[in-house]
Amino acid sequence: TLQTVTRLDDLRRATDALRGKGTLALVPTMGALHEGHLTLVREAREHAEHVAVSIFVNPRQFGENEDLDAYPRQMARDTALLEEEGVALLWAPPPEEVYPAGYATNISVAGISEGLCGSDRPGHFDGVATVVCKLFNQVRPDSALFGEKDWQQLAVIRRMARDLDLTLPHVDRIIGVPIVREEDGLAMSSRNAYLSPAQRARAAALPRLMRETIARLIGGDPVENALRRLRKELVEAGFDSVDYADLRRAADLQTTREIGPDNRLFVAARIGGTRLIDNMPVV
Ligand code: PAJ
Repeated sequence: TLQTVTRLDDLRRATDALRGKGTLALVPTMGALHEGHLTLVREAREHAEHVAVSIFVNPRQFGENEDLDAYPRQMARDTALLEEEGVALLWAPPPEEVYPAGYATNISVAGISEGLCGSDRPGHFDGVATVVCKLFNQVRPDSALFGEKDWQQLAVIRRMARDLDLTLPHVDRIIGVPIVREEDGLAMSSRNAYLSPAQRARAAALPRLMRETIARLIGGDPVENALRRLRKELVEAGFDSVDYADLRRAADLQTTREIGPDNRLFVAARIGGTRLIDNMPVV
């Protein structure tokens, strides 16, 4: 049965007990769980005997005018879902347990945190790296799972784990899980709940136009033309703005103009106040 803990000393006792009985995998989340999160949980069970999930809406990764207060919180529903999935431990600390008075340390992963979402959300990946490092130290899992939906986030976390010689988990035990999509192709996200029914219908254009763009790139269209056309088509399909649409190397997110499986198309676009992101391999 699922044990929920909200204090660090209770967490230490719970993780010591679990680790005495086998390996532990961690799935960090901000809650409002959907099928994408639950897929990470199911994959985690393939990698370890016990699964811990964290739910923490991390204030440090939200910008001044972002949606920290509006971010969906549904702890009762999330707890029931995790119970059904056979999760052993839910770590759900209040903000002051993670950032007590006097908290002063920041982790900043240069290079890979810049560009794409890093340009549109200054400080965001510092907040992510810092909280994920803390979650690793708090839970000390043998492995940790992250979605490819947030490809840049996964790359930042791997870079951090390598650079800081993290061992629980070791960088080789940081596992990426493919994007889980709705039936119409839209990548699942807790933020999809912000969309009105009309906006939600328009949002499906994002993955559809990305696929069309990839087909054109493979067909030989010049990259700049195809990217320009994608931005224009997104606006025509009802997106209010496009933060970025670019081709990058999958491993290090460097700009590339080469077509092939080592490269991915990355897009962030807005409908109303909602920012949607997606990425796909160029295959
Ligand atoms: P959150 O947005 O709740 O996502 C938690 C994890 O679920 C992330 O690893 C994310 O990539 C993954 N995920 C979300 N939607 C997915 C989808 N459609 N398919 C596959 N995986 C998906 O990402 C965060 O929280 C936070 O930044 C966190 C890492 C917890 C640090 O605060």
